[in-house]
Amino acid sequence: MDLLDAIRSRRTTNGPFEDRPLDPAHVQTILEMAACAPSHFNSQPWRFVVIQDQTTRMQLAEIAGESMQKLMAGGRFWQRYRKYFRFSKQEVDQRGDGILIDNMPAILKPFAKYIFTERGGELMAKFQVPKVLGKDARKLVAGSPLILGITLDKSEYKPDDLSGMYSLLSLGAVMQTIWLTATSLGIGMQFISTPMEVEGQWEKITKLLQIPDEHSLMVLYRLGYIPQAADRPTIDWTSSQRKRTAALAYANRWDQPFEPAAKPD
Ligand SMILES: Cc1cc2nc3c(=O)[nH]c(=O)nc-3n(C[C@H](O)[C@H](O)[C@H](O)COP(=O)(O)O)c2cc1C
Repeated sequence: MDLLDAIRSRRTTNGPFEDRPLDPAHVQTILEMAACAPSHFNSQPWRFVVIQDQTTRMQLAEIAGESMQKLMAGGRFWQRYRKYFRFSKQEVDQRGDGILIDNMPAILKPFAKYIFTERGGELMAKFQVPKVLGKDARKLVAGSPLILGITLDKSEYKPDDLSGMYSLLSLGAVMQTIWLTATSLGIGMQFISTPMEVEGQWEKITKLLQIPDEHSLMVLYRLGYIPQAADRPTIDWTSSQRKRTAALAYANRWDQPFEPAAKPD
């Protein structure tokens, strides 16, 4: 796949993957490309935990499912992230950012706009939304042939130090390298972040994966081959829209808009 095509077609895979293991040659390619990513002073502060063992994946699925259910039931998620949610295609097109929940059981649709209110939270609980989302998350993680953990060396990743910021930039570079490589191989990815949001859950994973004290587990992704067609999760979102470059870039100074070049015919 051409690099520009990989960049354009890379997406978060919210749904299930094909029910087959990843080709070991593909896993090796992903790791080799990851190693090519830039880092401050070529420090390569990251390490990769490649989880394919069935037992560990099921344990992670359990933690992910439980975290999702707790997070949704707690109500804090909706309050904290409200500003990223869009409620219509029109709003999405106008703003060019955020995420649109465009798939949900018909019974919930009339209440979509109210999920951020106290009453909305009660309704969600009534319709067992946290339970449904928890079950979906558990199933999605359990059905992922590979889970990838990335750690940062704590002697580099010091949140109060400039090297901490450099380490995060390096982490971003390695993540995108992995994601583009995966895309070019027909492999999808999704961030498993809910255990980060619920007290104690990330620590459970860190212990399960036996991450040493010198490293910090930064991210967990699930990977697998993208199926031709798949059922969407019960409650699902899209976020492929992007802002126009003219809305993102300035020419020389902040007060001058960047004029996009005319596209070649
Ligand atoms: C720092 C970061 C955190 C993210 N957290 C999550 C997450 O918790 N769950 C998820 O499904 N996607 C997560 N994403 C993916 C974004 O939602 C996604 O990249 C964005 O909506 C654009 O959609 P796309 O990846 O399909 O282009 C995260 C991405 C980044 C860079």
